[in-house]
Amino acid sequence: MTEPLQPLSPATLTLDDKSYTLPTYAGIEGEKAIDISKLRTQTGYITLDEGYGNTGACESAITYIDGEKGILRYRGYAIEELAEKSRFVEVAHLLLHGELPTTEQFLKFSTRLNESSIIHEDMHHFFNGFPRGSHPMGILATMVASLSTFYPIPDELDSATEIQIVANLVSQVRTIAAFSYKKSIGEPLIYPSYKLKYTRNFLNMMFASPVRDYELDEDIVRAIDMFFILHADHEQNCSTSSVRTAGSSMANVYAVASAGICALWGPRHGGANQQVIQMLEEIHAGGGDGTAFINQAKDKNSPSRLMGFGHRVYKNFDPRAMVLKKQCDKLLNKAGVSDPLFDIARRLEEIALQDDYFISRKLYPNVDFYSGLILRAAGIPTNMFTVLFAIGRMPGWLAHWREMLHGKQVTITRPRQIYVGKTLRHYQDIDQRS
Ligand code: ACO
Repeated sequence: MTEPLQPLSPATLTLDDKSYTLPTYAGIEGEKAIDISKLRTQTGYITLDEGYGNTGACESAITYIDGEKGILRYRGYAIEELAEKSRFVEVAHLLLHGELPTTEQFLKFSTRLNESSIIHEDMHHFFNGFPRGSHPMGILATMVASLSTFYPIPDELDSATEIQIVANLVSQVRTIAAFSYKKSIGEPLIYPSYKLKYTRNFLNMMFASPVRDYELDEDIVRAIDMFFILHADHEQNCSTSSVRTAGSSMANVYAVASAGICALWGPRHGGANQQVIQMLEEIHAGGGDGTAFINQAKDKNSPSRLMGFGHRVYKNFDPRAMVLKKQCDKLLNKAGVSDPLFDIARRLEEIALQDDYFISRKLYPNVDFYSGLILRAAGIPTNMFTVLFAIGRMPGWLAHWREMLHGKQVTITRPRQIYVGKTLRHYQDIDQRS
């Protein structure tokens, strides 16, 4: 499954009048890297790379991104093709097991997910312990970590148990997510149903109630399924790196997944689509058409930014945004769908795409711009947006955890630092301190 690194001509590094030879390699798509793993031993130097923007932390065969060309592929398949032709459960199998499933494999995987969807009845008591109004990401992270107490992991993890634990997490994250929402609005929990497939099951647990059935809208089911596919993996992003870091200590995988959820929670990562809606609400409340907000976002002296525009990796376009825009237009053009925030979003998009400030800086709508709109159109409350991102990302996190576990060796993640604090000083008794 993995292609070996191709050795290139070694690099020469001159430091303190000495020359060192460093191996260099190319990956299968031509990405090049200098191997500095012996740098400190050989030279006494370390590298300084805040945010690790230039650091390859591992070899991985899961996802390939070329930010300049707007390419995103899972296991070699283009995201556009998967979004159009595939379903989330099939993509989860692809990420976790390396290949798209055959019919037999798909049925087995899908049945296993269905049969793993219920959580231990005693865990229901936990939901009662959270205060009303708790953020569902806090509930999700806590509940996922506590799965380890109900489904303990044996010291020797055989492959059948590993597959079952992975299925538990992919399936139960959706049950816990829906339960968190029900708890936050004070409604009774709706159990998963063996009759419903993955995304339908989730929407039913979110929106059905003991006194009313939930009418599943095919376009909404498709849009949410596509949202899950588009968020299923994104190589070594913040939460996936957190998963690999926590996993490198050989912590149990429920704790590892919970670490991923906690990292995703932040507004600079999974919280950005929530901020898109908050920005639109702010513009709406101010009564403007968005022009004033855009001018503020362009102003160097203002911290404000046009949320849902720009991306750290994609510098020409975000391929996920292109796919989601089509689905978004479809949903928003449906009969009966009307929301002043959607009109503001369309105006913002129109103005920004013609404005030289955004054009010259290559700032285009990113996946969060459209996903925020899609989730709102589907009736998902804003504080659940990041929770849905976590459901989608779970197979990706677990694929990375498994890749690390079964790789050459698990090296505990332990970056170094350059110390800039006080040099040695001596303890003074408290009455002598100024
Ligand atoms: N609105 C206004 N100006 C912007 C924006 C924006 N959304 N994004 C970048 N700029 C400007 C910067 O002010 C800077 O201008 P300058 O060259 O005059 O100084 C220039 O564009 C480059 O900005 P950087 O911060 O260097 O771009 P970077 O690639 O580092 O940042 C980021 C990317 C953080 C995503 C940024 O575009 C941003 O804050 N966007 C809004 C938040 C957002 O949508 N985040 C979600 C990202 S997608 C995801 O996480 C799944």
